[in-house]
Amino acid sequence: MESADDGPEAADLHCAPDDLPDGLVVADERGRVVCFNAAAVRITALEPAAVLGRPLTEALPLEDLKGRRWWRLIDPYGGLAIRTGHPERNLLLPGNREVLVAARYVRDGRTGPVRKLIVTLRGTEARRRSERSHAELIATVAHELRSPLTSVKGFTATLLAKWERFTDDQKRLMLETVHADANRVTRLIAELLDISRIDSGRLEVRKQRVDVVAAVHRHVEAQTTAGQDPARFRTLVRRELPDLWADPDKVDQVLGNLLENAVRHGEGLVTIEVAPATLNHGREGTQVTVSDEGPGIPEESMSRVFTRFWRGSKRGGTGLGLYIVKGIVEAHGGIITVGRAPGGGARFRFTLPVGAPAHLA
Ligand SMILES: Nc1ncnc2c1ncn2[C@@H]1O[C@H](COP(=O)(O)OP(=O)(O)OP(=O)(O)O)[C@@H](O)[C@H]1O
Ligand SMILES: [Mg+2]
Repeated sequence: MESADDGPEAADLHCAPDDLPDGLVVADERGRVVCFNAAAVRITALEPAAVLGRPLTEALPLEDLKGRRWWRLIDPYGGLAIRTGHPERNLLLPGNREVLVAARYVRDGRTGPVRKLIVTLRGTEARRRSERSHAELIATVAHELRSPLTSVKGFTATLLAKWERFTDDQKRLMLETVHADANRVTRLIAELLDISRIDSGRLEVRKQRVDVVAAVHRHVEAQTTAGQDPARFRTLVRRELPDLWADPDKVDQVLGNLLENAVRHGEGLVTIEVAPATLNHGREGTQVTVSDEGPGIPEESMSRVFTRFWRGSKRGGTGLGLYIVKGIVEAHGGIITVGRAPGGGARFRFTLPVGAPAHLA
């Protein structure tokens, strides 16, 4: 595809068509294929020799999903002269293999004749995978919402129909269940909103000075007020801690989830250690380690604990907690790992960069 008028710009790209991850097909002003890169060969399973020099419309017979010849539909060299290209769309190669195709016209001037037709080809596997994972997500969410809502519906219907027949204690019990299930739905929805922010990169981090040690103490206190034995918790703090700049609400969410998991899924003493640490590129950070003495996470499941909806035991909640925790830590530029505590339980360790604002660094 090299030609004199590709000029310095093409040379400046420092890459050849075969280096591109997507299939690239270029046709000249007469519609003959002049470039058919390695990815195009892989995607179409056509030999370059069978394509190069031949008319594009014959060499690459694309059809739309209704079986119509695509080149005839768009009439690349004859259609409207103001067209600049065609957005990506799903087409079929011979043998009904799907391919994502986009095209761009290079013209003489803005509305001149087509000098080159550039076509990119991409496989559909990645898109299919993400469509499948969306469908799975929706199915799981619907399932998770259904069970608490079924109970809310059942109990309220029963109460409305037979109000007089129940004692106050029975009514209270049913209302408490309804209340707990409504809370579960609210929490699930809040978690789903967090997940959608994490997945789309819109999780906002509003940094302020955060006193992690005070936050840890607050969370331990919340657990003991909720009925846990204070002797179950031990907090170790290494003194020379750097000032941490992070989003205080999100740090609370992380600590709350990890402590809740240690109490709910773990056993025995829960140890929380706060210490200074170094992240990659020598970045200064603050590290928090939460370990317990329970069964821990089996080796073969460690790579899955941070995926959404994964839960190891029947005692599990929705399995979103750790996914959100990881999303929050990473939105801060930090890292989180899971391992085995010296006592055999689970050990979750996250490190946040101290992240001092530039004007204070
Ligand atoms: N400290 C721990 N010890 C043993 N297993 C754990 C521990 N923490 C998490 N797990 C396992 O990892 C799974 C996923 O944890 P995660 O916090 O993501 O979800 P969850 O606690 O089940 O539900 P949620 O946090 O959404 O209410 C848990 O179901 C549990 O099996
Ligand atoms: Mg959890």
